[in-house]
Amino acid sequence: MIRVTTVAGMKDLVRRWRGEGKRIGLVPTMGYLHEGHLSLVRRSKSRSDVTVVSIFVNPAQFGPREDLQKYPRDLERDAALLEKEGVDAVFCPTVGEMYPAGYKTYVQVTELEGRLCGKSRPGHFRGVATVVLKLFNIVEPALAFFGWKDAQQVIVLKRMAADLDLGVEIAACPLVREPDGLAMSSRNAYLSPEERKAAPVLFRSLAAAEKLVAAGERDAAKVVAGIRSAIEAEPLARVDYVEAVSLETLEPVAELAGEVLVALAVFVGTTRLIDNVRLRV
Ligand code: PAF
Repeated sequence: MIRVTTVAGMKDLVRRWRGEGKRIGLVPTMGYLHEGHLSLVRRSKSRSDVTVVSIFVNPAQFGPREDLQKYPRDLERDAALLEKEGVDAVFCPTVGEMYPAGYKTYVQVTELEGRLCGKSRPGHFRGVATVVLKLFNIVEPALAFFGWKDAQQVIVLKRMAADLDLGVEIAACPLVREPDGLAMSSRNAYLSPEERKAAPVLFRSLAAAEKLVAAGERDAAKVVAGIRSAIEAEPLARVDYVEAVSLETLEPVAELAGEVLVALAVFVGTTRLIDNVRLRV
């Protein structure tokens, strides 16, 4: 596995691969890899000739009072995991390499970026779209792999790829859960043992909602209220939002019909966790 830290170095490698007619798969990450990330790597390997994993904790997507400084990092452990998966290259630039002095350009996916998590994390999706577009320009992937755990990110990036004619396929892959249902996330590392025990309430509340819809419930407000009260019954959990929205526009729906995303963000202790289910009604 080749380790690359500069944009110029990555572009050289990409030029060589493209010259050999290779189809590049990119898995963008912020590191501290878990089984969810590795599932994306395996998808990429099955669909691409070469796989690049980027590891970059992107300051542009963190708010001033968010966890940029304490975000978990362990590059050596990550590199060992990726080596074992047979990844071709890991791109791990510094902040100065990605945002050199004088950096001024940002991408905004209007409307979509302000919904769901965008309300409590203003500027987050602008940071995500910007860094992902930069990574696309550097790595020139045919395919890029993202998990449905970050459903809004998937929708925002699909919109950006279509709107800007990027010619990159955004491959959205299944959310990966722990055995007790907790969605895998690097931020789960913040949870105390008691919080970790409480955290599967997110998944349980969504699974109960899914059952309710399967039994015929179509009133979005009722489904959302059911999820809220299940979470509020857990003393360590505090709801940021629970919403049922159109999977395409992320606009709230009153009636559950077509493709619906039921998404939530919940603080467990001080850690903000997200989860969702997609329903085809
Ligand atoms: O999903 C993430 O880890 C990040 O938002 C991404 C896509 C790597 C951009 O920094």
